[in-house]
Amino acid sequence: GKPDNCVLVIFGGTGDLARRKLYPALYNLHVDGFLPDAVGIIAVGRRGFTRESFHDEIVLPSLKKFSRRASELDAFFKDFADRLYYFQADIYDEEGYKRFKRFLTELEDATGCTGNRIFYLAVAPEHFGPVVRGLQDAEMIPAPGWQRVVIEKPFGYDLPSAAELNRHLRAAFREEEIYRIDHYLGKEMIQNIMVIRFANTFFEPVWNNKYIDNVQITSAERVGVEDRGDYYDRAGALRDMVQNHLLQLVTLVAMEPPASLATEDIHDEKVKVLRSLRPMDEGAVNRNVVRGQYGAGEINGQKVLPYRKEKKVSPVSNTETFVALKLFIENFRWVGVPFYLRTGKRLPAKVTEIIIQFKSLPDILYFKEYGELRPNLLVIRVQPLEGIYVQLNAKRPGNNNYIIPIRLDFCQNCEVGVNSPEAYERLLYDVMRGDPTLFTRWDEVEAAWRFVDPIAAAWAARPPLFPNYAAGQWGPPAAQELVIRDGRYWWQEH
Ligand code: BG6
Repeated sequence: GKPDNCVLVIFGGTGDLARRKLYPALYNLHVDGFLPDAVGIIAVGRRGFTRESFHDEIVLPSLKKFSRRASELDAFFKDFADRLYYFQADIYDEEGYKRFKRFLTELEDATGCTGNRIFYLAVAPEHFGPVVRGLQDAEMIPAPGWQRVVIEKPFGYDLPSAAELNRHLRAAFREEEIYRIDHYLGKEMIQNIMVIRFANTFFEPVWNNKYIDNVQITSAERVGVEDRGDYYDRAGALRDMVQNHLLQLVTLVAMEPPASLATEDIHDEKVKVLRSLRPMDEGAVNRNVVRGQYGAGEINGQKVLPYRKEKKVSPVSNTETFVALKLFIENFRWVGVPFYLRTGKRLPAKVTEIIIQFKSLPDILYFKEYGELRPNLLVIRVQPLEGIYVQLNAKRPGNNNYIIPIRLDFCQNCEVGVNSPEAYERLLYDVMRGDPTLFTRWDEVEAAWRFVDPIAAAWAARPPLFPNYAAGQWGPPAAQELVIRDGRYWWQEH
């Protein structure tokens, strides 16, 4: 159904995120009829656009480039643009908030948006506090109807800074009104993990340390840091990907069945996983966490620059662009099962996959002359292909009893780029409907930082020898060692 009528205010409305993700997602929602009947989308920015020049110079090019429904712009753009406004203000100017308050209430009266307000903070985290205070001082919050705030990562740099950010938000919003985006949770196959686990008889009974040998989660990218060198060089792969996206995937794979599908019940189970992560001391970090930084190399036959020569990156940077780690969850279901996580830039493929490797059967009946038995795998493909497959052993047709691995393969989206809704469509829709299930609750963020901070601290105490992998390789050799010394492989490369 359609969400309540509301106003959506986007701070940072001419920025990169708004142009790449937010306008295309909102426009796609409009095309599919998922926007409220009365909705005003207001971009707030410092630059001097008129409403028309904002439509023409910012929004239209963004939709042409990034929307999966770009071919329908002729039919839908005008209507969409009718709901889009621009307001020029500096987020540090008190007067600006006062003027904005008048603009906002007039718009609400004119459109019938009834005082429900969403504030999307698509700005750097150091601005969250000032914007929230500006909104409070100008009495835009508390809103006359309901109010929500949406924020992007990075949610802090470590636990203390995340807690500080959270205090700023909590000064004006209740926890249920805070939507912390982790866009991986909006991806189709990630939403599918709980369904696959809890709606099928096949998996749940074997989903534990008796039958599962290890879990591998890879999220690899071919791109380098692109234009985000200033942010990335301060963050690095551990903060950029592991603290949020990868640990969120771990929670979905490892959580207990929730009491119900209610938001709080699901979050309660997810946070328990994070609290059960075995903490790493310095010795464990040195043994079980590998960091890397790319040097010069080749991607798709193209020579690419080393990380240290990227735009806005320090030429002596020790920031990691690759992390591989082994973690353990200390609860009854998972004790003893390693979870191997891996992510990085300038790797050979753009791929996100979760691989559950089951324990092998004893070598009693079928071995040697039957060929080498492969373990059973359940593979959840998140992107670019979306689907799931199970790898089994079966007899090869013919007169000799040879055994080969076969796949039961369900492909939800085998043509890359075909019309699966974008993560941001689902997430924006859920914000408008008031469903925070696919967002991260504060205690999850907190527990994730508690796990990650000691890793960052151990690294800071011991400078790395970077670069240690060539662009286009699967990270440094130590990433292979991490699994090989346990007698395993990264299946992704096989
Ligand atoms: C973002 C990170 O959260 O996720 C980026 O900040 C990364 O560095 C991106 O490139 C990857 O997202 P996706 O959806 O392309 O896997």
